[in-house]
Amino acid sequence: MKKQFKRYLITAALPYANGPIHIGHLAGVYVPADIYVRYLRLRGVEVAFICGSDEHGVPITIKARHEHVSPRDIVDKYHDMIRKAFEEFGISFSIYSRTTSDMHYRTASAIFRKLYDNNEFLEKNTSQYYDEEAKTFLADRYIMGTCPKCGHESAYGDQCEKCGTSLSPTELINPRSMISGSKPVMRETLHWYLPLDKYEPFLRQWILEENKQWKPNVYGQCKSWLDSGLQPRAVSRDLDWGIPVPVEGAEGKVLYVWFDAPIGYISATKEFTPGWEKYWKDRDTRLIHFIGKDNIVFHCIIFPAILKAEGSYILPDNVPANEFLNLEGDKISTSRNWAVWLHEYLSEFPGKQDVLRYVLCATMPETKDNDFTWKDFQSRNNNELVAILGNFVNRALVLTHKYFGGRVPPREKIGNADLEVLAEIPKFRKLVEDNLENFRFREAMKSAMDLARLGNKYLADTEPWITVKSDRERTGSVLNIALQITASLSVIIRPFLPFTAEKLERIINRPALTWDDAGSPDLLQEGHILNKPELLFEKIGDEAVEHQLNKLHGSLPAQQPADRTIREQKRNITYDDFSGMDIRTATITEASKVPGTDKLMQLRVNTGMDTRTVVAGIAEFFEPETLPGKQVCILANLEPRTIKGIQSQGLLLLAEDQTGKLVFVTPEDKVSDGAEVK
Ligand code: MF3
Ligand code: ZN
Repeated sequence: MKKQFKRYLITAALPYANGPIHIGHLAGVYVPADIYVRYLRLRGVEVAFICGSDEHGVPITIKARHEHVSPRDIVDKYHDMIRKAFEEFGISFSIYSRTTSDMHYRTASAIFRKLYDNNEFLEKNTSQYYDEEAKTFLADRYIMGTCPKCGHESAYGDQCEKCGTSLSPTELINPRSMISGSKPVMRETLHWYLPLDKYEPFLRQWILEENKQWKPNVYGQCKSWLDSGLQPRAVSRDLDWGIPVPVEGAEGKVLYVWFDAPIGYISATKEFTPGWEKYWKDRDTRLIHFIGKDNIVFHCIIFPAILKAEGSYILPDNVPANEFLNLEGDKISTSRNWAVWLHEYLSEFPGKQDVLRYVLCATMPETKDNDFTWKDFQSRNNNELVAILGNFVNRALVLTHKYFGGRVPPREKIGNADLEVLAEIPKFRKLVEDNLENFRFREAMKSAMDLARLGNKYLADTEPWITVKSDRERTGSVLNIALQITASLSVIIRPFLPFTAEKLERIINRPALTWDDAGSPDLLQEGHILNKPELLFEKIGDEAVEHQLNKLHGSLPAQQPADRTIREQKRNITYDDFSGMDIRTATITEASKVPGTDKLMQLRVNTGMDTRTVVAGIAEFFEPETLPGKQVCILANLEPRTIKGIQSQGLLLLAEDQTGKLVFVTPEDKVSDGAEVK
């Protein structure tokens, strides 16, 4: 027997606030979660849909260091950007919170403290790399060195990106700190560990025995973790960004981001409603986590172990994780800018949220990785949304306006074939339902589209545009049925295509239909007045696709008309801010591409004061042999930073126009190197 639940608590993985949202995030997590939640709401189910920004952890501090701003600046910037983009895209969270909120600090600290007081943690001293110059312990990602496996010289402390081996920092040969460039030393540090091994029997029983219905990819990953044996896992870190460990004598230590982030679901629910406890502590609530595959162990093993240790919370009933979405046959990569960014899509394809929702649902990586291509985007729009759904709805409405003045005609003259079509409508609803209940989103959406296909076939078979010449009654009956199909469509496409559904609802002038209405043959009464039809979708031309492909390959021709707007002026600075910058003329003496990267160029420049190394992201725009001898301007006193293991001292000034074209800022006439720019 299937358990009946009173309410649903749906969470979507909290995105790191260190970059914008791209289509990989959407197809993996937010589109399926939103479809599911919209479906539940249409069924009249009580549901909370929880998300927010994940604002702690090393990814944030790395980004901050990269951009020479504070972690706080980074999370503020991206939290805002992500929140706005989700909203415009129609992801219908009950709340979109963030893990730097007061509520979250209190909630996460309290849970840690309760586990601490109940002696749930082990305390262990271990030795870790410490940067004596920067006076800080080094997270694995902040250590670089030579890979013991393949000899790659820029391997990270947790992984070698060349050969893919996962590493621990002590395995690196010649380790160096990415913060100061110095050689780190080992130093003792105290941390708290969650004894996952203690929870192994419980997790085995709960996942492997009681949750066999989980998706095979999820179940399989859990099984392999459990079979290889669980170890105690540190839940604190030496870092200056995060929630302080709420224990005396823990100065400088913060909660491990994967300890605090999932608790963010709880904190956000508290912010959403004072009645949060019924969502988290009542066994009649069905908790479902929507995540990507890289999050499985955290949501299926570590977070449940934390909740179990705490004792008063429910556990997830399902964790329908997706695999990854690729783009044009290649892994999506933020650093290579190989992505389709949501905020850019929204501004380049205004009003076309549903097209992207449709394509991402149709290519959702449900059981294996899948591929998004712009060609496929275009053809699904033109051949499916326009040609099937848009075409059917448009014909039903336009013909009714043309022949019957926009009023639903009576259904008097029908035969067996018509009755069969009427009887088929509810089957599509049922199919959508069954597929959604089993997290088969692609199949569910296909079933919804099949109803439009049925409609098209019905019109093609009955040809009302022909019968109208001889048999008005018959024509009216056919259109009546086509309109009933349209009304059902306005409901069953709603979880997938909410903007279109809303438009359609307006056109048929029949608001507030619910899920259970779909399939009924009498949603539109005889004489009901329809509004004027509008096109639901429009064709997407080849230019739009080419433009996207060019942009992706970074090869927009310079003459291309500006398509990005001129960025707004930044906020004012003082004269002192400006004069603190030491900008000099300098001459490039050597240039070469940084191996293993597409964008980076390593340069030697003579600044008049010295000859130094600078790394610049210009390799896609200049050939190295054209650069020596060129006089440029350099921001000389920018804090040195290590990029791909190379110390870069200073920043070359370049101008970038709206098409992405880059040119050096150079003195108009030759001057001696080291001249001050002011
Ligand atoms: N920020 C993580 C990621 O993007 C996901 C965190 S999910 C949470 O992979 F449960 F921890 F919040
Ligand atoms: Zn390697």
